[in-house]
Amino acid sequence: MDRRRLPTPALLIDEARFARNLGRLNARVDALGVPLRPHMKTVKNVELARRMLVGHPGGATVSTLGEADHFFAAGFDDLLYAVGIAPGKLDAAARRIRDGMNLTLILDHPEAARAVAAAAERTGVPFRVLLEVDADGHRAGFRPDDPTLVECARILERAGVTAAGVMVHAGGSYACRDRTCLKRIAEKERDDAVAAAGRLRAAGFEAPVVSVGSTPTALFADNLAGVTEVRAGVYAFMDLVMAGLGVCEIDDIAISVLTEVIGHRSDQGEVLVDAGWMALSRDRGTADQAVDQGYGLVCDEDGKVLAPEVIVRATNQEHGLVGRRDGQALDTADFPIGRRLRVLPNHACATAGQFERMALIAADGEHTESLSRCRGW
Ligand SMILES: Cc1ncc(COP(=O)(O)O)c(C=O)c1O
Repeated sequence: MDRRRLPTPALLIDEARFARNLGRLNARVDALGVPLRPHMKTVKNVELARRMLVGHPGGATVSTLGEADHFFAAGFDDLLYAVGIAPGKLDAAARRIRDGMNLTLILDHPEAARAVAAAAERTGVPFRVLLEVDADGHRAGFRPDDPTLVECARILERAGVTAAGVMVHAGGSYACRDRTCLKRIAEKERDDAVAAAGRLRAAGFEAPVVSVGSTPTALFADNLAGVTEVRAGVYAFMDLVMAGLGVCEIDDIAISVLTEVIGHRSDQGEVLVDAGWMALSRDRGTADQAVDQGYGLVCDEDGKVLAPEVIVRATNQEHGLVGRRDGQALDTADFPIGRRLRVLPNHACATAGQFERMALIAADGEHTESLSRCRGW
């Protein structure tokens, strides 16, 4: 389809930038000698996932059982479900394993370990589990020296469940302000993962898997000795948060929302577009960064940034208000009704999550292929 005939708002993925982003991370992990287990929470699409897996046959990461089903149906059978398992989902997980899915779960609490052990005994399914370790106080996980790490492996072992190793996601990297911080967090993520696996091994467990990663740490790690796989997802599309962190350039952002000018607020020097929070999402991830990009940075129809100050300043459900960050007036004559613009989003996963389909813009910049996205849990 011709890009110019796409109905708005539409989710666009620039194929050339997407490919460049994959190449960059692949080169990085190849240099460090560790395979990638890409996280599919960002692309949520089989065709793009296949491209991410080229050269990395070790499987994929998912953030919902719905994603696991979507990718399993397309032939991906080695899936790490990287959200702490809810006991209420264990029967559903057991059904999938019985159907042939090689599904790995994660947990970080003895009660969760007991729930998995009980489900294994009840269903006869020998779950495979990674123990989540917290390297930076960001979210979930055992502290690396927490004695319950080994206790959980024992609870699982007694029920025939394999504690296959450890998993760390250093989401604290998203709060970094400079390269030194990114490098330090990447090092801490590796160190804590390797130390936790070492504690399991010292207690007699094999713990073959040491899984680490986020896009910032994957791109800024200098040493991954002892790590067996790296996970990253947002690297495929990149976004304004990653650019604000210094992890990529604005020019690397492959995702945008195509929108059309629908009105003027000439007195205020602002324009209205048909992309509100329903299209852009409510994510304000750049609000705490040095440059607050509002709800997104505005580009022309071909994806060229108009001016660094022109952003979506506010949103209603289906309206976006485009203005200048510095409060100066836009010349509304530059934005005739019907002019098409693109908005680069704060957070690729959140914005993409608003859409059922995305248009992949070919390298010629004109033609698009419509790709579906999996949704739900
Ligand atoms: C457990 C886990 N691993 C890997 C990732 C990928 O990180 P990123 O989105 O920075 O690529 C995420 C993202 O939320 C995650 O939760």
